[in-house]
Amino acid sequence: MSEQRVTKFAIPEIIFGQSSIRYLAQCSRRLGAKRALVVTDQGLIDSGWADFVMDILRDDGLDFLLFDKVNSNPRDYQVHEGADLYVREKADVIIALGGGSPMDSAKGIGTIVGNGGRIADYEGANRIMRPLPPMIFIPTNAGSGSDISQFCIITDVERQVKMSIISRSLVPNVSIIDPDLLMTKDDQLVVSSAIDALAHAIESFVSPLASPFTENQALKAIELIAQNLQPAILNRTPQVMEQLSIASTAAGMSFSNAGLGIGHALAHSLGGIFDTLHGLVHPIVLPVVMRYNLPVCREKMCTIGRIIQGSSGECSLDHGEEGIIRLEELFAKLEVPNRMRDIVPDSGKLEQICRMAVHDACMLTNPRKADWEDLLHICQEAW
Ligand SMILES: [Fe+2]
Repeated sequence: MSEQRVTKFAIPEIIFGQSSIRYLAQCSRRLGAKRALVVTDQGLIDSGWADFVMDILRDDGLDFLLFDKVNSNPRDYQVHEGADLYVREKADVIIALGGGSPMDSAKGIGTIVGNGGRIADYEGANRIMRPLPPMIFIPTNAGSGSDISQFCIITDVERQVKMSIISRSLVPNVSIIDPDLLMTKDDQLVVSSAIDALAHAIESFVSPLASPFTENQALKAIELIAQNLQPAILNRTPQVMEQLSIASTAAGMSFSNAGLGIGHALAHSLGGIFDTLHGLVHPIVLPVVMRYNLPVCREKMCTIGRIIQGSSGECSLDHGEEGIIRLEELFAKLEVPNRMRDIVPDSGKLEQICRMAVHDACMLTNPRKADWEDLLHICQEAW
């Protein structure tokens, strides 16, 4: 008898749409909140969105605490500080407001609250054994997918490593996705977030763990980003931002369940060593990694290429390479850094980056195996 492949698909409850943020208090109460810990960052405080969220809780008579000591590439000690606050002040629900950094910090805080120990104890896949407190996430960019995913990325400051922590327990109870929150973001953040979501979709589509449940989501995400990213920069409308939100959510559903690949392993390594902004890495490495993977997944690359080109006809093998070229043209038009030398100070650092990246959990789901020297060739090609 041939072995049947078993697949799984986990996502949070999703409340989606313009003004959906008004359901926050109701969702909090449903999860038993009496005193919520609101995790966010300085940018969300400056923009007024943190006050907006706290007013919703206040108006509903809910008590809350604010934790805003979160950086981009969130640090291990920040997670422990937040967990200490949660325990000391007897909070009962975690609300994260922000991009990937506040949401990943909230996951780290929940992990420590529910499981104890140090956050580095949970690096890798399936090492969280006990449940986390209830969590509600409100994403403010259309890219990280952290509000959907089983992934949490935290920097171990001493080792200069961005740790990938992967567990079903990290999926929040509720994700409230309100595209209105994207209207005030600057162009660079919209672009880097959308390219991150595109990388999530492409890497997870070719993952050996991809299933029909993830593949359809990945392809929808690629199509929506290809159609809406440039319009979002030229003329930002609520409708266009809603399409990018759908894309980011769909890509999150895909990568959370199918995993990522070499591009994200390198992005985590670069973030750990140089504090590089995550979304800026993908325009540099994604096309080169796609070419590396092409020989082992030609049909899937053709499908991706056909969608990027907006072609409705039959898939031809040429679509794979043409799709990569079209992607490079899109990145050039968006004026994002597209060479490794734009973000790495000298090529002598590449070996360190690759020796670290090869141990990242995302390497396990890349369709073509690679050792650190293969990663070095990829980085040199992207130099
Ligand atoms: Fe990412």
